[in-house]
Amino acid sequence: MKYEISITKTTEPKAKPADESKLGFGKVFTDHMFLMEYNTEKGWHDARIVPFDYLPIHPASTVLHYGAEIFEGMKAYRTQNGDISLFRPMENIRRLNNSADRLCLPKIDEEGCLDILKTIVALEKDWVPHEEGTSLYIRPFMFGNDPHLGVHAVHNATFVVICSPVGAYYPEGLAPTKIAIESEDVRAVRGGTGYAKCGGNYAASLRAGQKAEDRGYTQVLWLDGVERKYIEEVGSMNVMFKINGTIVTPALTGSVLPGITRKSCVEMLRSWGYPVEERLLSVDELIAAAADGTLEEAWGTGTAAVVSPIGHLSYDNKEYTVSDDKIGSLTQKLYDALTGIQWGKVEDTYHWCEFVCKG
Ligand code: COI
Repeated sequence: MKYEISITKTTEPKAKPADESKLGFGKVFTDHMFLMEYNTEKGWHDARIVPFDYLPIHPASTVLHYGAEIFEGMKAYRTQNGDISLFRPMENIRRLNNSADRLCLPKIDEEGCLDILKTIVALEKDWVPHEEGTSLYIRPFMFGNDPHLGVHAVHNATFVVICSPVGAYYPEGLAPTKIAIESEDVRAVRGGTGYAKCGGNYAASLRAGQKAEDRGYTQVLWLDGVERKYIEEVGSMNVMFKINGTIVTPALTGSVLPGITRKSCVEMLRSWGYPVEERLLSVDELIAAAADGTLEEAWGTGTAAVVSPIGHLSYDNKEYTVSDDKIGSLTQKLYDALTGIQWGKVEDTYHWCEFVCKG
C-alpha cells in the first residue's frame, strides 16, 4: 500500500558541500524532509515532503518525557554506472517495524515505506555525493507525540525521514579504532530494548562512551547486562573476531542489535567458505585469544561504520594490540566486497541493491 505523498519544494536550495572529502558524518542535511502523522482514528496520514526545517513539538510530547523513539540508519549510493541505489532497504523497514512493536509505536506498511524512501532519495538525488567512500545517509525515525503526561502506549506518532551526505563515520576513516571493554555501565538487558533500534539504548550508552573518549578510545565494547561476561556490541556497530581461523560474532540473544551489515558480512563470509560462529563469546575467551595471539583480527560492522577495523582493545586496565594495529586482510576483503557491491563496482550476486533512479 502506497501512501499519497504531497511534495512542497524549497524555494531556497542550499549549496551542496564543496569538498566531499570533508563531509564527516551527519553534519550536513539536504533540502527536504519527509513527514507523516499517525493517530488511532486515522492511522498514518498527511504524508508530505517539505523543506528541511525544525519540528514544532508539544512540550508534553511522549518522546520528550518517556523516550518513545525509534530510528533506522541506511544509505543511498551513487553507483559506477550512474544509478542511485539503496542497500537492502526492506531489512531496515522490517527492523523499524520490529522496533515499533517493542516500543508500542505504530507500524508502517512495508511497501509504502519503501516508496517513501525512494521518493525522498529521488528528490534529493543531487545530494548523493560522488567521491569514493561517501554516500547519502538516510535517517528514518518515529516518535510518540501524545500531548499529555500519562504513561501509556502511543496514540499519536510522527514519522520523519532526513538525509545527510556523509563520508566515514570515524575520524580515523579506515585506520584501526581503539576500543575499551566496559565493565560498569551496561547498554541493554534481555527482555529490554537492546534488539530494537531506539534512542534510549544510545542515551544509556553516552556516559561510558564519553569516559572512553576522555581516555583516548574511540568507543566502548559492551558486555551483557546480567553477568557482565559476554561480549555484545560496540557503541555504533556490531562486532566480529577472527579467532584461530574462525569468525566469531555475538549471537542475537535479544540484547544485541540485529545489524544489516552484520547479517551481510555473515552471509558473505559463509559464501566464501569461512566458518562463522554466532554464539556467546565471553570476555575471558576473547582476552585469552588477544593475549596468546590467536585473535587474528577484530572489526565492527554497521551502516554508518561500514566495516571498521579494531586495532586495540583495553580491558581491566590492560591493553591488547590486535593485528599489529593494522587493518587485517579479511577485514579489508569484507570492506572491499561490501562497498564494491554498494558502489556498483562488483556484480551484486546477492541482489542486495535496490534501484531508486538514474543519478
Ligand atoms: C548506523 O549504523 O546507521 C547507526 O544507526 C549507528 C549510529 C547510531 C550512528
